[in-house]
Amino acid sequence: MKKFYQFPDWFLWGASGASYQVEGGIYNNDWAFWAEKGKVPPAGESTDHYHRYEEDFDLAKSLGQNAQRISIEWSRIEPEEGKFDEKEIEHYKQVLISLQKRGLVPFVTLWHFTLPLWFAKKGGFENPDAPKLFARYVAHVLSYLKWHCKNWSTMNEPMVWASAGYLQKQWPPFKMNPLTYVHVVHNLIRSHNLAYKEIKKIDKNCDVSVVKHNIYFKTDLKPWNVLMYWFAKWWWNHYFLQRTFFNTDSLGLNYYFQQQFGKSKKFDQNDMGWDLVPEGIYHALKELKIYNKPIYITEAGLADSKDKFRGTYIKSLIYWIHQAMTEGCDVRGYLYWSLLDNFEWSQGYAEDFGLIHVDDKTKVRTIRPSAYEYKKICEDNALEIE
Ligand code: BGC
Repeated sequence: MKKFYQFPDWFLWGASGASYQVEGGIYNNDWAFWAEKGKVPPAGESTDHYHRYEEDFDLAKSLGQNAQRISIEWSRIEPEEGKFDEKEIEHYKQVLISLQKRGLVPFVTLWHFTLPLWFAKKGGFENPDAPKLFARYVAHVLSYLKWHCKNWSTMNEPMVWASAGYLQKQWPPFKMNPLTYVHVVHNLIRSHNLAYKEIKKIDKNCDVSVVKHNIYFKTDLKPWNVLMYWFAKWWWNHYFLQRTFFNTDSLGLNYYFQQQFGKSKKFDQNDMGWDLVPEGIYHALKELKIYNKPIYITEAGLADSKDKFRGTYIKSLIYWIHQAMTEGCDVRGYLYWSLLDNFEWSQGYAEDFGLIHVDDKTKVRTIRPSAYEYKKICEDNALEIE
């Protein structure tokens, strides 16, 4: 028998992307610097979204979507300390206008992992002045673009960024120092809080969030595991949100996986080797209920180059989102990660998250079959399952 799960008529459906991952032609940030040195893969021309955004938004629209998440590349806006590039502001203004013209509600992240080179050279978010420098950039963007976007996120996944760069030596600046890591987390908190205040001075009515990567933590009953479980949940999922609580209007949730303390059963995995556990999003949402704020799912998706699991996975995610909503979670929208295949950080172009495949050489876009399954949900504003 068919079952029908209806969403409220204001619910937003869309997909996400981020500047360095899709735009191409960005050479003035820390990732490009380290790519030159061979420490990370180069992003190069990427999908050339910088020049093809109209085509990409047409595709998103044709897929029944009504929202889109992008990010602004700080190194384009402020290529040198204190010098702002008006041409680049104009570029993003045109990007936002083209979203609005198509009826795609823009969600803009002001900082998604990449630092302008001048800022990285000053120590990035290790620098005690980082909050001021970040807030100045944010204020500049807002003062020019406030008419074209109402949903702003200051930063993407601060905990992921800090741990990859300061504990795991995976991402710039490739450090492994717990003290610096904790210091950086606190500076990120300060940076968000100050940026929030600046944004509100410029547009008190807009919605400001942090985009947070939360994990569905699980444990067996062994005391050590239980302890680790509570610590991880508090530090990874909640600490940042608690310390920014008075400076967020809504929450952005990025959900990708579970982490089990103790033995886990076997699951299908995506191309990144992450267990496919769609019901984890339900638990992640329920955990956020205590904050009593609107939630946008700013990312949830999978790397699946053969498009084997994507359609079913998206449907299961949406089923669990609906379930959380019926139990009182105030979810306002879902943005699949990602609209296009793109630059997946340390993995370069090896991973395919896109609803739309992008040919590395020709940049030709091809819609994957699973994107049509998602399209049906977006257009019906409902999920239908057997
Ligand atoms: C990030 C994206 C990334 C995605 C898949 C999130 O952690 O915000 O930039 O591509 O996950 O790994």
